[in-house]
Amino acid sequence: MILKRIVLKNFRTYKDLSLEFHSRLIFFIGDNGEGKTNLLESISLLSFLKSFRGNSDDEMLMWNENTFYIGSLCQADDDFKLEYGFEKEPIRRKKIKLNNDIFKKQSDAFGLLPCVVLSPKDLIIIEGSHAERRKFIDSLISLLHKPYLDELLEYNRILKQRNITLKKQFNDLKMIDVYNSMLADKDESIRNKRKEIIEELNFHYQKALGNLSGGKDNFTLIYKPNVDSKEKFLEKIQTNYQKDIRLGYTTVGSHRDEIFIGRDDKDILEFGSQGQKRSSVISLKTASFELIRKKIGTDPILLIDDVIRELDIKRREFFVDLIRECGQAFFTTTDLEGIQDYIGNLDESRQIYHVKNGSMVESK
Ligand SMILES: Nc1ncnc2c1ncn2[C@@H]1O[C@H](COP(=O)(O)OP(=O)(O)OP(=O)(O)O)[C@@H](O)[C@H]1O
Ligand SMILES: [Mg+2]
Repeated sequence: MILKRIVLKNFRTYKDLSLEFHSRLIFFIGDNGEGKTNLLESISLLSFLKSFRGNSDDEMLMWNENTFYIGSLCQADDDFKLEYGFEKEPIRRKKIKLNNDIFKKQSDAFGLLPCVVLSPKDLIIIEGSHAERRKFIDSLISLLHKPYLDELLEYNRILKQRNITLKKQFNDLKMIDVYNSMLADKDESIRNKRKEIIEELNFHYQKALGNLSGGKDNFTLIYKPNVDSKEKFLEKIQTNYQKDIRLGYTTVGSHRDEIFIGRDDKDILEFGSQGQKRSSVISLKTASFELIRKKIGTDPILLIDDVIRELDIKRREFFVDLIRECGQAFFTTTDLEGIQDYIGNLDESRQIYHVKNGSMVESK
């Protein structure tokens, strides 16, 4: 996958920007706070339909403006145009278009521009709660298997309804039963998909981690579903009914699944050094990159935010291979020093942009 053009209007620091890309390696250089990550964020928004920094559309809208727009020209087998527009007032809404056609169901636009983001924030996959690990896995599965995102959204919608019903003064048992059986179906297909993908991801994760650590870090990724069958789900949700009423939320189901990363019974969170955690994150991202390549047959775009300084020589070498295999790679960095170590001797044309206060100047 190649991004040939990006157009930004009122997106964060960018009032009006249009960039044409004709290289596979693209660098954004600038001091802190000048808008480098903002640019990567805009590209990732086209891919994931939300910010990898966890911000809302409102927060990405340039201050004191009412609409933002991201336009793009992408190249897979054929060229296609992908656009994302947001309006705040009078009614908050967004529009996503593919070749000028508006998506009726916006989730259909997810992953049309497959990207893998590498950012210092990724450590949260290791250090955050299980919700963060699920988020990472869910986003990957949604990219690989189109119906998944809708199933997940539907599961969450039913879950919300069930929780509302639980909180009502007079419980509607009939309704609860209906929700239980609807949830059981969705829970089963979410679990099956998570099981399948986590197993495959583990294979690539272990391989990458083995390479990165010279065989020293021997960790595994294991899916620990909250229940392991539809029958168990229905049984446990009945058993927990009184507890759920007391708590006012549902305590059974895939929203409580855990994803273990570690060795023996110990999660990496409990014993991992900073370096081990970082290698694990990079390996997880590399593994997701490999799965996307393998399963959808497209080389994803890499968005590499500011990770350069954090990598030792061994990890940099590892990166060169990854960059060799991607469709295109966008990097942000405060200066180009050491970049040669980072991308190796890749003898390819590159574009270098200097970012300053929301404007871009390309080096010739
Ligand atoms: N909604 C917004 N409207 C206008 N400006 C914004 C908005 N959100 C963030 N900014 C500005 O964007 C800048 C941060 O941009 P960004 O995170 O891309 O910086 P960066 O170049 O990646 O910096 P660093 O090297 O520190 O990571 C800040 O100056 C911030 O004030
Ligand atoms: Mg940044």
